[in-house]
Amino acid sequence: MDLKNILKTRKEKFVRDNLMSDEFLEFIRQNKEPYDMLMSYYRCAIMEVETKFKVLNEQFSLQYDRNPIEGIKSRIKSRKSLIKKIRNRGIPITLEAIEENITDIAGLRIICSFPEDIYMLEECLLEQDDVTLIERKNYIKEPKPSGYRSLHLIVEVPIFLHKEKRNVKVEVQLRTIAMDFWASLEHKLRYKKSIPENQSQELARELAECAEISAMLDERMQIIRNKISSAQENGDN
Ligand code: GTP
Ligand code: MG
Repeated sequence: MDLKNILKTRKEKFVRDNLMSDEFLEFIRQNKEPYDMLMSYYRCAIMEVETKFKVLNEQFSLQYDRNPIEGIKSRIKSRKSLIKKIRNRGIPITLEAIEENITDIAGLRIICSFPEDIYMLEECLLEQDDVTLIERKNYIKEPKPSGYRSLHLIVEVPIFLHKEKRNVKVEVQLRTIAMDFWASLEHKLRYKKSIPENQSQELARELAECAEISAMLDERMQIIRNKISSAQENGDN
């Protein structure tokens, strides 16, 4: 494609995107109360699931004298990325369609030190009788071509309101510190549009290599931790 055509395509996309943003913003203006209410349900659901993980961490800390969770981050999807997803997936602009099709409006990221803690926490969460698993993607077992690794769960939890109970979807990403460190840097590359194509490809290759090294480090640290635990148990007996 020559420069003139590239510019024309970009301009058309810009106009299309803006039209869509305007349409969405107008929808929010006209449905302000139910829209705000829906977003508040997602904030409540984050609180519920975050508390579940904090309780598990507290219990492990008391029972086994260790914290499987290093940190928890949460976020509500920004309006900008919500618009982008609605546009890219051709989702109708209605609250029902948004609630049904966009499963990552409420997002939680659970950072662990060791890979085994990820699966242990997953099991503890999913065996709770008010948590329903909607979708599971194991990018640790099958990393993305970029090298991205994490365990993704979409769960549904009830939130108890004044006179009503509602089931709300939350995306939970579980990863180790090393996986999180890698993903943060790779995210920077992904969104830097100003890096020339050939340089960006080279950096992506380097990052994919670092993901392998980082996975090996996670594995070795896990083995050492397990050896320390069994040495400790033998010493205690
Ligand atoms: P999205 O539209 O991005 O939500 O895609 P999806 O619904 O197919 O979900 P996916 O399982 O790909 O995971 C989405 C989320 O995982 C993203 O919003 C990121 O937080 C994270 N993620 C997925 N792939 C990558 C990646 O290659 N690099 C980084 N840094 N993060 C990723
Ligand atoms: Mg997402």
